Amino acid sequence: MPSPISPNTDAPAVEVRGLVKKYGAVEALKGIDLTVGRGEMFALLGPNGAGKTTLFSILATLRSPTEGSARVLGRDVVGARDAVRRQMGIVFQEPAIERRLTGRDNLLLMGLFYGLPTAAAHRRASELLGSLGLADSADRPAETLSGGQRRKLELARALVIDPQILFLDEATLGLDVDARRSFWSHVRTLKERGRTVFFTTHYMEEAEVADRIALIDSGRIVALGTPRELKSGLGGGVIRLNTDDDPAAARWLTGRGFSPEAKEGGLMILHADPASVVPELLRNLPVTVQRVEVHAPSLEDVFVELTGRGLAGGAPPTGTERRGAEGGAP
Ligand SMILES: Nc1ncnc2c1ncn2[C@@H]1O[C@H](COP(=O)(O)OP(=O)(O)OP(=O)(O)O)[C@@H](O)[C@H]1O
Ligand SMILES: [Mg+2]
Repeated sequence: MPSPISPNTDAPAVEVRGLVKKYGAVEALKGIDLTVGRGEMFALLGPNGAGKTTLFSILATLRSPTEGSARVLGRDVVGARDAVRRQMGIVFQEPAIERRLTGRDNLLLMGLFYGLPTAAAHRRASELLGSLGLADSADRPAETLSGGQRRKLELARALVIDPQILFLDEATLGLDVDARRSFWSHVRTLKERGRTVFFTTHYMEEAEVADRIALIDSGRIVALGTPRELKSGLGGGVIRLNTDDDPAAARWLTGRGFSPEAKEGGLMILHADPASVVPELLRNLPVTVQRVEVHAPSLEDVFVELTGRGLAGGAPPTGTERRGAEGGAP
């Protein structure tokens, strides 16, 4: 079935079929089917423990599937492991740089590891350090760089071989807004050069730049589409309410056929035509309304509606382990 040798330039960037991954009793992926086109900027969103890192680590050839298949640029990740590795770059959720080495040496090491001639590796390292704004700190041990600089160095490391496809697994986690903006402006230049970018994030504004988004929850894809399609799929709009007694307001609303959800210290109600009901709500709610807001659904609303949790974390699903204390918007 796999064709490990022949390059396939027409093949999609990523092609996943019936992918299942079990860690003992934990079924992290429960049958994923997914195609990412060449040159796409594709986001995989999902709550903690959804299976994002597991999918990335299979695509990056670091773990093998329990069932099903995965191809990157037409090559099977199991049968053509080395060829797949030579065409992809990955920024892991966990740090991968050597902290004691300088930034430049980290990049040189990566280049030499992938077989670049020494002079070419030096050239490539300087080029990347310059374009990512790291030239001034390139010759210090990586552990002395700021968090944002270290994340950029991780990106540079992934780009040493000028990969056709770049995987970013929560690559900007914990960075401030400026650092994230400058990280993404570099990533966008890759897209402009026809590269494929497949990424995960818990930051909504990063997800908005994707051409398409797959929403994954408990090992299954629960929605797939452009950001616009996903948002319009909810229909209507969102009413957010703050009152002096939200539980009482929620009971009253539920009694009248609304489906309020407690969220971010207030109530959220999805409605086909908010404008037609808000005046009535304000008149009749038996509690004092402190604030009411109506807006078109955001990606965050889509996420909450489909997974019951917020994009930036929230309560873990029952029966799913939660590791570490990650997530959380700045
Ligand atoms: N090595 C492992 N052994 C056992 N279970 C694992 C292992 N790695 C991951 N899991 C479990 O598989 C599930 C999916 O984990 P994964 O890391 O893929 O989630 P994720 O979507 O990347 O989450 P996060 O947003 O927290 O990074 C979780 O229930 C997790 O606890
Ligand atoms: Mg993860």
